[in-house]
Amino acid sequence: MKKINIKNFKKTLSKFATGITVVCIKNNNTIYGKTVNSFNSLSLNPPMVLFSLGNYSSSIKQFSKTKFLSINILSSKQRKLSDNFASSTPKIENINFIEGKNKTVIIPNCIANLECKLMDKIKKGDHIIFICKILELQSNNKLKPLLYFNSKYF
Ligand SMILES: Cc1cc2nc3c(=O)[nH]c(=O)nc-3n(C[C@H](O)[C@H](O)[C@H](O)COP(=O)(O)O)c2cc1C
Repeated sequence: MKKINIKNFKKTLSKFATGITVVCIKNNNTIYGKTVNSFNSLSLNPPMVLFSLGNYSSSIKQFSKTKFLSINILSSKQRKLSDNFASSTPKIENINFIEGKNKTVIIPNCIANLECKLMDKIKKGDHIIFICKILELQSNNKLKPLLYFNSKYF
């Protein structure tokens, strides 16, 4: 087995293939989005999901105080959106966000979208786990997912 350090931890976890989401919030008329692959399902009844954000993130304060959020599961055609929202200065001017039913903003043309209510936050290590109840959802059967493996898109 290898020594446990950040480099080896990241390398090992990069072997776990995931989809990619962009989590969006709107606070005081400003939209924030973050590329997130720590998303997962949590509960069927009630329907809940979770994801985690680093507590060092530039917008962690905004995400921590939100009540509602959207989780947008990216399609294979949305690589640029993933890169954009992984940047600390994402550009949102050219995105035609759709207003959700629950004070959320939704990214169009995704393979799936969830509108969620933030139920709980749990601080663990250098991340905060966000636990969310699903309020609305939709998915597209024709699109393919954007996948992330070994720190590369597929
Ligand atoms: C594919 C991918 C997945 C990511 N997943 C997460 C994640 O689950 N949680 C997280 O805190 N940051 C994640 N990040 C990093 C953030 O998107 C962002 O780059 C980081 O928070 C630094 O920017 P910030 O300081 O502006 O928040 C991911 C980045 C990429 C490219």
